[in-house]
Amino acid sequence: MNISGKKAVVFGGTSGIGLATTKMLAQEGATVVAISRDPSKAGALPAGVSTEACDVRDSAAIETLLNRLGPFDILVSAATGGDRAVGPFVEMDIDGFKGSFDKLWGYANVVRYGAAHLNEGGSITLVSGSPARTYPKDLSALSAVGGAVEAFVKTVSREIAPARRINVVSPGVIDTPMVTIEDKAKREAAYTAMTKDYLIPRAGTAEEVAQGLLFVIKNDFVTGTIVDVDGGWLLSD
Ligand SMILES: NC(=O)c1ccc[n+]([C@@H]2O[C@H](COP(=O)([O-])OP(=O)(O)OC[C@H]3O[C@@H](n4cnc5c(N)ncnc54)[C@H](OP(=O)(O)O)[C@@H]3O)[C@@H](O)[C@H]2O)c1
Repeated sequence: MNISGKKAVVFGGTSGIGLATTKMLAQEGATVVAISRDPSKAGALPAGVSTEACDVRDSAAIETLLNRLGPFDILVSAATGGDRAVGPFVEMDIDGFKGSFDKLWGYANVVRYGAAHLNEGGSITLVSGSPARTYPKDLSALSAVGGAVEAFVKTVSREIAPARRINVVSPGVIDTPMVTIEDKAKREAAYTAMTKDYLIPRAGTAEEVAQGLLFVIKNDFVTGTIVDVDGGWLLSD
């Protein structure tokens, strides 16, 4: 797909990976609607980008919004949805574990109410995360949710082919506002500790992940695929 002149809708498009994707799509000539609960956090946005406020967990609001925004060619969701539970599963607050699935429910709302408005030749892209296939201790919620997102994408890819495509990009550890440590030295130390055993021992950037999204959006022969942008985490000790 040639992105120039196309219409894109990016949930979570106001921060981190979604914001980098929004900016790259705009740079390639798309008209982009970036959506989150508080779009003001995006700061100054390039020409061609507008924002909307919506919570991906609110099915009725998502349906209404997508009915208004459609038709479009590119649908992306990188919205985290809610809080992520971390810690040993057998000691975990069970509601926290269940709450981590807000990411899946948000994606489900976006795909359920967005697919009908996707022009022929269009694509959907979601974002999972390396824990889906690395299974780190204390990240059972992230592994379970990420695995569910990837299985969901593969199944839906079969249902909407060949006219429409859906893919998932799986980031490793990426330096985005999702990590809230403000002190620069402490932030760098945290990322160094997290990535020290990876084949490429550093945090990735939101732009490096957005390049993965742009690849699956543009390549008309790619569907049901997981693109890992993870510094080699999957193969690390
Ligand atoms: N950063 C990493 O290391 C990493 C690693 C693996 C996977 N991921 C995944 O990559 C995706 C993007 O993460 P990121 O690092 O870019 O995070 P981020 O910078 O915190 O951005 C998350 C975006 O999602 C929006 N959002 C969150 N909950 C929402 C809701 N309920 N409804 C609507 N919008 C919502 C946020 O805006 P509002 O707060 O205004 O709603 C924001 O625009 C997520 O799915 C995350 O799980 C990230």
